[in-house]
Amino acid sequence: MKYYAEISKIVNGALSGDRKRVTSYTEMLCEKLEKDGEVIAIKGFREKLSSINSRTIGAHSTFSRPVPVEKDNRFSLADKTFPSVQEQIVFLPADEQKMIGSFISYIHKKDQLDSMGIPINSTLLLHGIPGTGKSKLAGNLAASLGLPLITARADALISSYLGSTSKNIRSLLEYARSEPCVLFLDEFDAIAKARDDKNEIGELKRVVVSLLQNIDNLGDTILVAATNHVHLLDPAIGRRFHYKMELKAPTEEVRFQIFSSLLDRFSFSRVDIENFVTLSNGLTGAEIEIVTFDYLRQMVINEDKIEAIELIRKTLLSRFSWLSFTIENRFNNMSKLHSIDKKIFSKKFISQLWNMSQSNVSKIFKENN
Ligand SMILES: Nc1ncnc2c1ncn2[C@@H]1O[C@H](COP(=O)(O)OP(=O)(O)OP(=O)(O)O)[C@@H](O)[C@H]1O
Ligand SMILES: [Mg+2]
Repeated sequence: MKYYAEISKIVNGALSGDRKRVTSYTEMLCEKLEKDGEVIAIKGFREKLSSINSRTIGAHSTFSRPVPVEKDNRFSLADKTFPSVQEQIVFLPADEQKMIGSFISYIHKKDQLDSMGIPINSTLLLHGIPGTGKSKLAGNLAASLGLPLITARADALISSYLGSTSKNIRSLLEYARSEPCVLFLDEFDAIAKARDDKNEIGELKRVVVSLLQNIDNLGDTILVAATNHVHLLDPAIGRRFHYKMELKAPTEEVRFQIFSSLLDRFSFSRVDIENFVTLSNGLTGAEIEIVTFDYLRQMVINEDKIEAIELIRKTLLSRFSWLSFTIENRFNNMSKLHSIDKKIFSKKFISQLWNMSQSNVSKIFKENN
């Protein structure tokens, strides 16, 4: 059922007499209804909200608060978005998918855990090499939980002015606490690194430690942090996260899902997709995406026919930085590929890559050996 997440939170809030929760989630429901064009329903809810707000909470609900800005140059400390599940599909191997599923059910059971006196710390640390889907996964989580995503980049939070970084972090947290949301701290290692900054050492250390200690008081805020350099994090900080997940270069199965979804509107055969999957071993999801869009752009602009070999060339160029398909140095390139895997990079396949006959390729190999 659509809007189930919001409705169930509103009901829970009402049953537990938590007015702030009811209004926050009703506001959130209104924002969603607005996006879906449900004008009449919103009008009713908004009228009720404003009458409650003016009677009890004051003219402004927590929701109308603007995203905080950096004091010195007025940069926004965060971006607020409402990601949709359809836009934020992340393909993961089965184990990782299971872990995310478990994190989501852990959050759904927050009220039950609270009522049993079991503290819940809704924190997830995503780490791994660039381009493996960490940021997209944060958006996917927000969408799956029906919450807004508040993305803060560490570089916006870190200020060269003494004391400002901690102020920025504090105002961001205060903002995040004011409404249910997924707070996403991207490039989290930069904050951990900044702790060693001579200017701020004492103050920042205190702020970061208190940030983590206060996670339990973040209300309905879910904290997701991402880093490419998990080893730079203070172990004490790493330990505070209840869930930790490493995102790696995609497995064969995941590459199949990524290629299939990127190319589903084009008439590649299953064998073509399987070839892309085999030949893209080691590339990240982001690299696969770049190569595929690069190919599709070129195909549309030049009004070319679908040609699997051209996408294969681009995939291999992205995978092997030394490779080129020019005439110069072609023997070196051909023999290097051939020696990586004689079966995959057979002379027949090499002849297709360089767009020449197999007998010519054999000749080149003979002449140079
Ligand atoms: N497993 C995946 N499933 C779907 N898309 C993926 C996956 N991995 C990467 N991508 C795609 O690659 C692009 C980059 O992903 P994203 O920005 O989430 O990576 P990241 O891990 O946050 O990288 P960085 O560490 O550089 O911030 C996105 O457009 C995303 O669609
Ligand atoms: Mg990212």
